[in-house]
Amino acid sequence: MFGLLPTALLAIISAFVHSPTGVIAAGQDLGRVLDAQKNLTVFQGLYRNHTKLFAEHIKNNVTIIAPNDAAFVRFGLERWNDIPENLVEASLKYHMLADVVTMGSVIRGESVYGATELTDPAFSNVTGGQTMMLTKQPGDEVVFTSGFGERGTVVADNVPFDGGLLQVIDSVMRVPERLETTARDAYKDLAAFLGALYATDLIEEFAEMPDVSIFAPHNTAFQQLAGTLGSLNKTEMKRILRYHIVPGNVTHTWELKNDTALATGANGTNITVTRFNNYIFVNSAQIIQTDILLANGIMQMIDNVLNPDQPSARPNTNLTSQLPVYTATGVTATGTAVPTPFTSELPCTASCPGWNSTTISAVTVTSTRATRTSTTTGGVRSTGANSNVAAARCTGLVGAGAALGVAMGALVVGL
Ligand SMILES: *[C@@H]1O[C@H](CO)[C@@H](O)[C@H](O)[C@H]1NC(C)=O
Ligand SMILES: *[C@@H]1O[C@H](CO)[C@@H](O)[C@H](O)[C@H]1NC(C)=O
Ligand SMILES: *[C@@H]1O[C@H](CO)[C@@H](O)[C@H](O)[C@H]1NC(C)=O
Ligand SMILES: *[C@@H]1O[C@H](CO)[C@@H](O)[C@H](O)[C@H]1NC(C)=O
Ligand SMILES: *[C@@H]1O[C@H](CO)[C@@H](O)[C@H](O)[C@H]1NC(C)=O
Ligand SMILES: *[C@@H]1O[C@H](CO)[C@@H](O)[C@H](O)[C@H]1NC(C)=O
Ligand SMILES: *[C@@H]1O[C@H](CO)[C@@H](O)[C@H](O)[C@H]1NC(C)=O
Ligand SMILES: *[C@@H]1O[C@H](CO)[C@@H](O)[C@H](O)[C@H]1NC(C)=O
Ligand SMILES: *[C@@H]1O[C@H](CO)[C@@H](O)[C@H](O)[C@H]1NC(C)=O
Ligand SMILES: *[C@@H]1O[C@H](CO)[C@@H](O)[C@H](O)[C@H]1NC(C)=O
Ligand SMILES: *[C@@H]1O[C@H](CO)[C@@H](O)[C@H](O)[C@H]1NC(C)=O
Repeated sequence: MFGLLPTALLAIISAFVHSPTGVIAAGQDLGRVLDAQKNLTVFQGLYRNHTKLFAEHIKNNVTIIAPNDAAFVRFGLERWNDIPENLVEASLKYHMLADVVTMGSVIRGESVYGATELTDPAFSNVTGGQTMMLTKQPGDEVVFTSGFGERGTVVADNVPFDGGLLQVIDSVMRVPERLETTARDAYKDLAAFLGALYATDLIEEFAEMPDVSIFAPHNTAFQQLAGTLGSLNKTEMKRILRYHIVPGNVTHTWELKNDTALATGANGTNITVTRFNNYIFVNSAQIIQTDILLANGIMQMIDNVLNPDQPSARPNTNLTSQLPVYTATGVTATGTAVPTPFTSELPCTASCPGWNSTTISAVTVTSTRATRTSTTTGGVRSTGANSNVAAARCTGLVGAGAALGVAMGALVVGL
């Protein structure tokens, strides 16, 4: 089932998958198992309406992640009913892990991810199936993380049926979306990066190349280099941006070991990982928001623009924030009052009224650490699972209801 995944990932997955033998109950039809569950009426209805789809996947042995009724209420039942059928089906496949996973096998403090049954290229360009992350919290709750950093906590676990296990969660998981909508609707600190990709005609390459890891500098990094980057031509700018993408290697932060070298899209020039306490750097840029799932891989937000001519840059761990690896010229001011470079390149449609360089907050992501000492812990803001920083318990769709509809609409429009 995981034949298409690199061996390193296989080890990670097999480490938390118990042998299914003895776990799967024989002779317990999923429909009847669902009917016996309280507060699962919407999902029961979805099962009845898509019995054939479920049957096709269950025959391979899966883990069904079933949002409870409260999850659908939070999502908005009307909104759910408005979702086009192809997206509903994609979403259902995303709610199936492509293996039998008991929650007891997820180890506390270690994040893992599981491939799902969502393999349709219209919704995912991740080989072997789009993924979901699993983290065991202190207190042993398991939290799933999906697209847009949407999380759900397991509220009833390991219910066996004929063909796998059922895990009930308190949030509707979100199919990871393309780079454009993910950055536009959920991570506005990446507006300059996104604009730069549009300006250099690289957006499709970054959004559709399968199995990528993207290291995306936040707006402040671009503001600091507004003068420097502004004087470059398109060819040079393209080379710089391609130094921020690793083709063919979806790498979660917990796989980024000290001294890991990753070959980038800038003619294979490497970027190198440094681990220091709980901080993770690529070259000298710090990862400030981890593991943002995308339709074609994963994205890490970093605090500086990488320089393909400075591949040996490493962090000065005495500093609380790293210096740019470019000679700054011209405009270097940062802050919300300063225009954010490249944002004028963002396409604006009726569905994206938020794009406006003066209204985009340039500095909503800041490092959480004050001083750099050997006892400092934390510092990485995590949208999802992170082996070093216990993810805060944050489930449900608080405040995200409206964005969900818009983004899903945008995805469908984009098909
Ligand atoms: C079902 O939902 C109701 C109302 O939210 C709650 O009081 C009850 O405890 C839930 N039952 C179960 C078995 O989760
Ligand atoms: C199942 O299909 C019926 C008929 O099309 C529809 O009214 C109902 O809302 C569907 N249920 C769910 C949970 O999607
Ligand atoms: C599913 O699990 C059952 C019980 O462990 C096993 O007999 C069967 O061979 C498995 N099927 C597949 C397709 O892996
Ligand atoms: C996946 O890539 C193909 C091009 O190879 C593209 O047509 C499709 O839209 C991409 N899917 C998503 C979800 O972005
Ligand atoms: C872009 O700038 C570089 C360095 O100045 C120069 O070598 C190259 O010819 C320029 N390319 C174009 C298309 O102007
Ligand atoms: C990471 O690698 C660098 C350079 O090889 C080394 O100086 C540093 O001690 C290593 N850090 C850890 C945590 O192993
Ligand atoms: C890039 O990293 C790979 C893998 O560690 C290594 O084999 C290769 O020599 C590196 N290339 C350069 C130019 O440093
Ligand atoms: C892919 O990423 C892993 C770290 O997750 C690294 O060890 C490996 O060298 C990378 N492979 C390539 C081809 O860059
Ligand atoms: C890319 O690398 C190859 C082999 O190292 C080299 O011959 C070529 O000139 C490089 N191209 C660019 C655009 O740097
Ligand atoms: C960091 O601080 C130590 C102690 O003050 C000093 O020895 C070292 O040279 C500094 N490192 C850098 C890169 O500035
Ligand atoms: C951007 O927003 C500001 C403040 O709301 C407004 O004054 C300005 O006209 C807007 N610019 C564009 C191009 O929409």
